[in-house]
Amino acid sequence: MHGKLIQMEQSLAPSVLTPINDPFLAKHQVNLWLKRDDLLHPIISGNKWRKLKYNLDEALTLGKDTLISMGGVYSNHLHALAYVGKHLNLKTIGFIRGERPEPLTPTLQDASDWGMELRFISRSDFRQLRQHQSRDSLPKMSANAYWLPEGGANRLALKGVAEVIDEIDIPYDVLCVACGTGATLAGLSQRVHESVSVLGFASLKTGSANKPDTYSFLADGIQSLLAENSHRFDIINDYHFGGFAKTDSKLMTFIIDFEEKTEIKLEPVYTGKMLYGIYDLIAQGYFKPGQRIITLHTGGLQGNRGFR
Ligand SMILES: Cc1ncc(COP(=O)(O)O)c(C=O)c1O
Repeated sequence: MHGKLIQMEQSLAPSVLTPINDPFLAKHQVNLWLKRDDLLHPIISGNKWRKLKYNLDEALTLGKDTLISMGGVYSNHLHALAYVGKHLNLKTIGFIRGERPEPLTPTLQDASDWGMELRFISRSDFRQLRQHQSRDSLPKMSANAYWLPEGGANRLALKGVAEVIDEIDIPYDVLCVACGTGATLAGLSQRVHESVSVLGFASLKTGSANKPDTYSFLADGIQSLLAENSHRFDIINDYHFGGFAKTDSKLMTFIIDFEEKTEIKLEPVYTGKMLYGIYDLIAQGYFKPGQRIITLHTGGLQGNRGFR
């Protein structure tokens, strides 16, 4: 790996496994741990470092001087990209969905302060951009630029995410993760032991496997990133709370209660919805007594500023 990235990786805090001590879990006889990728770094936290790591390595190895990507006005991915770009001396460009908000969201303000050039594009142009997946696929892109699709969701991202599995040194039965593009789930699925059930909690509305007409584009997207015959996974579609970044008072109350009980912060777009879902499924008896559940805390706490 490139020297600058080795240095950056060495400066990260450890992602420990935190057991959740909660009488509710004891009552239902399940064990729950959080794999704390949120602790890695205040900005490139959670799945951001995992997904960016090998992409950055490739960009540096190829001698690229610009990183380009896309996202929404609260994008954790663009926020992290702008930050690493500044620290690696790489120019960054972010295509942002919709009109420039006035004032800028705190996420975009940070990105801009770290030197990211913000280009606001229409929703239809944004949808077009989603067609471009591979690193050189963006039309009219300079030869020195490196393109990352939305959420940094590509095969190199999977390689970084898979390393989470190597760090888990206790036996477990179920692995849970929040899904946006599904790349994080795909990376975990690629490496996890076949005896483990992988559950992805969709943070946005997707179709479901039992309604073939709307069959989940999330599941399809994940499958397209994964090699054939890879590990099975299930997508839970019941906890998106009406759609991406939609919330309600039940979700917000759950997040506050969880934080009070555990001193672990969640955010309402991904990890809050996932943990709400896990708790709800536990209450419904979805997990067998004695099961050991590990759930990945994918960070993204900077996004909380959009909700306060
Ligand atoms: C905090 C957080 N958790 C989970 C996810 C979902 O990750 P993925 O898009 O790889 O499914 C994201 C989006 O990248 C995120 O920012």
